[in-house]
Amino acid sequence: MRIFFLTILCASLILACGSEQVNEESQNTPSVFSPNEDSELALLMRFMYDDMYRLRTEIKAGKHPKITFPAKELFTAEPTDENQVSSDHYHLLGKAFLAAVNQFQESDYSQLSEHYEVLVESCMSCHQYSCPGPMRRIRNLYL
Ligand code: HEC
Repeated sequence: MRIFFLTILCASLILACGSEQVNEESQNTPSVFSPNEDSELALLMRFMYDDMYRLRTEIKAGKHPKITFPAKELFTAEPTDENQVSSDHYHLLGKAFLAAVNQFQESDYSQLSEHYEVLVESCMSCHQYSCPGPMRRIRNLYL
């Protein structure tokens, strides 16, 4: 019985925040915009992912890159599902993420890799809680 519940729980978590686009079309969560369009938050996240990937490449090449994604929009961008962002957890983990962004931006060259890893860790900890689907992809960001 317990395993049954766990399975249902996992399945609903994955459906609520699938990493694959295929899931999005079959989702019928009521929302203000067309369900087939990507949410502002999803677009921001994709931009963050690409920017992080660039940082990773440049750090590995011995450069000193800066973040260009607008991290604060984490709190204003429209999500696919309001429940994903309305919790205290989301706010706490979001603030921790913003702190990690600031530390990276102000980091001197010698600590850049360290701060970068904290940043990826910070993506992971929010995702573990609010949106496990993309974690496999985010893992590619580690140095
Ligand atoms: C405070 C919580 C939080 C943090 C921090 C966070 N994410 Fe997300 N992420 C989410 C939520 C919630 C969604 C679902 C957005 C939606 O569907 O509207 C998401 C979605 C995504 C997606 C899937 C977007 C798509 O195509 O639908 C990717 C990729 C992603 N995040 C990468 C990252 C990366 C990389 C970082 C760190 C640089 C990060 N996230 C930090 C909460 C977070």
